[in-house]
Order: sequence, then structure tokens, then C-alpha cells
Amino acid sequence: MTENDAWRLFRGDRTPRQAVLPPAPPWRQFAPAGGTDGIRRERPYLIGRAQADVVSAALHLRRPLLVTGHPGTGKSSLAHAIAHELSLGPVLQWAVNSRSVLKEALYDYDAIGRLRETHLRQEQHTGPEPDIGTYIRLGPLGTALVPRDVPRVLLVDELDKGDVDLPNDLLMVFEEGEFEIPELSRLPEDRSEVEVLLHGTDSGRVGVTRGLVRCREFPVVVITSNGERDFPPAFLRRCVRLALPDPDQQQLRSIVAAHLGEDALTGMDDLLQTFIDERAHGELATDQLLNAVFLRKGGVNLDAEGLLQAVLHRLGGAV
Ligand SMILES: Nc1ncnc2c1ncn2[C@@H]1O[C@H](COP(=O)(O)OP(=O)(O)OP(=O)(O)O)[C@@H](O)[C@H]1O
Ligand SMILES: [Mg+2]
Repeated sequence: MTENDAWRLFRGDRTPRQAVLPPAPPWRQFAPAGGTDGIRRERPYLIGRAQADVVSAALHLRRPLLVTGHPGTGKSSLAHAIAHELSLGPVLQWAVNSRSVLKEALYDYDAIGRLRETHLRQEQHTGPEPDIGTYIRLGPLGTALVPRDVPRVLLVDELDKGDVDLPNDLLMVFEEGEFEIPELSRLPEDRSEVEVLLHGTDSGRVGVTRGLVRCREFPVVVITSNGERDFPPAFLRRCVRLALPDPDQQQLRSIVAAHLGEDALTGMDDLLQTFIDERAHGELATDQLLNAVFLRKGGVNLDAEGLLQAVLHRLGGAV
């Protein structure tokens, strides 16, 4: 094996050895579990003035921002960039899929867990009925609607993957800025104050009165879509729309430099050009370019058979 082959960590030669992995790309480094306060390590995010102004308009209007654009153009990252820049705390995330329903984003009531605990306590004569609030956890949207002076950022990611009724269901909550937890509103008057659990924390709790959660400031809502579904006009009308463009050559250079340092651009012109040429024929995400630059910077020979294609492959369609 030559010096130049050192990047070949796996050789398929069935010779056991200790893996010595070089450092991971900055965007694939993970903080130890429980070691952070939930705020992810900030990653660089570049946005044009025109696009940033649209974000500001949504903030002024207290309206959801509907962000569209090709895969990897930074739609989801935008929510984190806003939260970081405006010091709004960790982003509350709701990843939508075809089975998503509004209720799961609002709250979850573990009725079975509570019933089990009630039986246990009755059998063992160990005190009163368990507190219902311990069995209710607000979801990301529910937590975003908790009254606060400073709003939280809610990322409703890939709403177009959801059921056709979901945008209208959401619309109702966005219009009212409130929702009800019937399990709590049914309780007698002397139990009208209940502390429930918050999304994204182990022990964070908030008091709910008569089962009603109502925001004081409308949260900063970022909805992303890859355009797989059209949304109803009533929904669109209430959103501020931001279409993120594919970054041009200069913007790509800036993004690479922001993630990997100015030096990373040296000797990468051909990669940039290949990325732009390939992108003209099909979707290619910005992070694919970052991957290619990272590999070459780390000594990987991207000319090895099929390797560049493995990284800069076009997205969409069957694989
Ligand atoms: N404008 C940007 N500035 C800095 N980094 C960016 C930018 N756009 C994309 N990236 C990089 O590309 C990665 C992918 O971005 P992100 O996941 O936000 O894209 P997306 O539009 O949500 O894609 P998808 O449609 O696949 O969900 C980010 O983690 C980031 O590393
Ligand atoms: Mg995304």
C-alpha cells in the first residue's frame, strides 16, 4: 500500500486491524447525549439579502414562513439560523410524514400509563391517583404555543409529505393561536391548574389552566416543502412565501469557505464546475458539494473509479 492509499480505511482484504478514523466533517459531529442544553452546535448559514428580508417580513407579520426550494438549498437549516441569530432557543421540530396528524404535534396523553399507575397504587395502597399532568406531554406545536414573551421557533419540516387535510388543520390552530386539551378541560374546577410536560426536555413543565394553551406571541413558524403537494389557497394566503434559489458559483464558494475554511477552496475549481454541470441535469444538494470538498481535502482520491459519482449523484427518481 502506498502513502497515497492511506485514505482507504476499508480495503476489503479481510485483514483485521484497528480502525483509526480521521475527524468527522463538522456537520457530522455529534454532541454527547445529555451534555448540551438542546441547542445544536451552530453551523454556518449564508442567505441573500432579498431572502433574509422575506424572513423579516414574516417576523413582522407574525405569519408562518413557507419555504420551498430544491433539496439541500437550506430550507430546514433556515429555522436553526433564525433561532440562533435571534436567540430564540432550540428549534422545536415536527418532521411531517404521511401518517402525521395535528394532534401528535399538539400533545400526547399516555392514558394507559396513567391507568396502570392508578391500579398499582390502588393495589399497594400507596397514595392518591397519579397526577394527570405527568402523563401529558405537549408536542412541538403545543410547546410553541405556550405563552412566552419571547417566541420559540417551530420547524414544520416537509409539510408536503403529510396528509391532504393537514394544512387546513394547522391553519385553524395558527389562526386561533390556541388549542384545547379536553382531558384537562373536563376536570373539576378545583383541579383547573395542571402542570404538563414540555416537548424536547426531560423535566420541563408548564402550567395549563382549564385545559387551554394559548400563545402570547405567535411562534416563529418555518414550514418547509419540496413541492410534492399543492397547498390550499386559504393556507397559502396566510403564509409568507420564500423560494430559496439554487446557489450560484460565488455563493457555493462562500458556503464551502464558511463550513470548511477559505483554504478548502484551493484546488477545488474543477469540483465546483463538475457540481454545477451535474446540477444542470438534475437535482444536486449543496451538502453533496461539501462532502466532495471534504473528502478531497482529507486526501481522498476522488478520481478513483466511481467515487465522485457516489458522492455527486443526482437526486430524485429511482435508485
Ligand atoms: N445557505 C446555506 N449556507 C450554509 N450551508 C448550507 C446552505 N444551504 C445548504 N447548506 C448545507 O447543506 C445542508 C443541507 O441543508 P438543509 O438540510 O437545510 O436543506 P433542505 O433544503 O432542508 O434539504 P431537504 O429538502 O433535503 O430537506 C446543510 O446542513 C448545510 O450544511
Ligand atoms: Mg430539509
